[in-house]
Amino acid sequence: MRRIAVVTSGGDAPGMNACIRAVVRKALYHGLEVVGVRRGFHGLVAGDFAEMKSRTVGDILQRGGTILKSARSEEFRSEEGRAKALLQLRTYEIDGVIGIGGDGTHAGLSLLSKMGMTTVGIPATIDNDIGSTDSAIGFDTACNTVIDAINKIRDTATSHERTYVVEVMGRNSGHIALAAGLAGGAESILIPEVEFDIQQVCERITAGARQGKSHSIVVVAEGAEGAPNKGGLPGGCAYRIGQQIAELTGFETRIIVLGHIQRGGAPSVRDRILATTLGAKAVDVLLSGSGSGVVGVLGNEIRVMSFAEALSMKRMINMDYYELANTLSNL
Ligand code: F6P
Repeated sequence: MRRIAVVTSGGDAPGMNACIRAVVRKALYHGLEVVGVRRGFHGLVAGDFAEMKSRTVGDILQRGGTILKSARSEEFRSEEGRAKALLQLRTYEIDGVIGIGGDGTHAGLSLLSKMGMTTVGIPATIDNDIGSTDSAIGFDTACNTVIDAINKIRDTATSHERTYVVEVMGRNSGHIALAAGLAGGAESILIPEVEFDIQQVCERITAGARQGKSHSIVVVAEGAEGAPNKGGLPGGCAYRIGQQIAELTGFETRIIVLGHIQRGGAPSVRDRILATTLGAKAVDVLLSGSGSGVVGVLGNEIRVMSFAEALSMKRMINMDYYELANTLSNL
């Protein structure tokens, strides 16, 4: 291992920059050369590489987004595109690739490793739907962003005695909705993993009002009613649900779609530490010569596993959290 590449791919997540910094500086510490790949797998195919020095990653630890930028690449999905990417890596004499991103990133890295390139995946997605880690980089920050919004919404909801439907991200997963719903005391949490009956949701809101509650918060994952079109305009599910709630309860209802603000902002301490430790570990994995794999944290321990194992794992919804949130917010 003499020269390595680092790439961020898929939806960005707070903490990606902290992770890039850790990868670059840990690699430099061990005498490796590092190149940054711009615009995700798209840049890998195009050979859009830039030399990374210690100062290149100065003052980025605290910034959201990714200095390397991210993009979805149709070309990389084809065998031809991946062959081009491999050729670029060989031309630049790159011996290993560290990819920071979600399940799509891991799948792409796995395919590259099958073609003979050593690759290491670092989980970073606010959706937290990667089974090989308890928490993906960005999830904690995104939940804090949602909680901050819910706290503010609560103030005005109480003043006006309204019901609020708060839509959070999660095309196929309800992890943000569940964590923020539990931590934010939502009356109902609607997620793709658990079927719901809108009548029951409304009965709970009405029962709460009878008991003297001055407002209700319903947290909805954007994919609660099935995934919206990939690449299409997000949102929409909260509007339908909000309208139904308004009609069935007769209560004044407002809808908030938090959208992409959940993907931005300074990473939380938890995400910075996670990003820093996993970034450094990924370099160790490349240096160890043990081959390709994925790093993550399970039960407070940093773990390394194969792509096959990692990609077969699904992060399940914590049903205890779901039940607890329902119990506590409906008394
Ligand atoms: O990062 C994952 C995610 O936040 C999903 O929850 C969401 O559906 C998607 O990204 C939207 O991404 P984009 O608008 O960038 O395509």
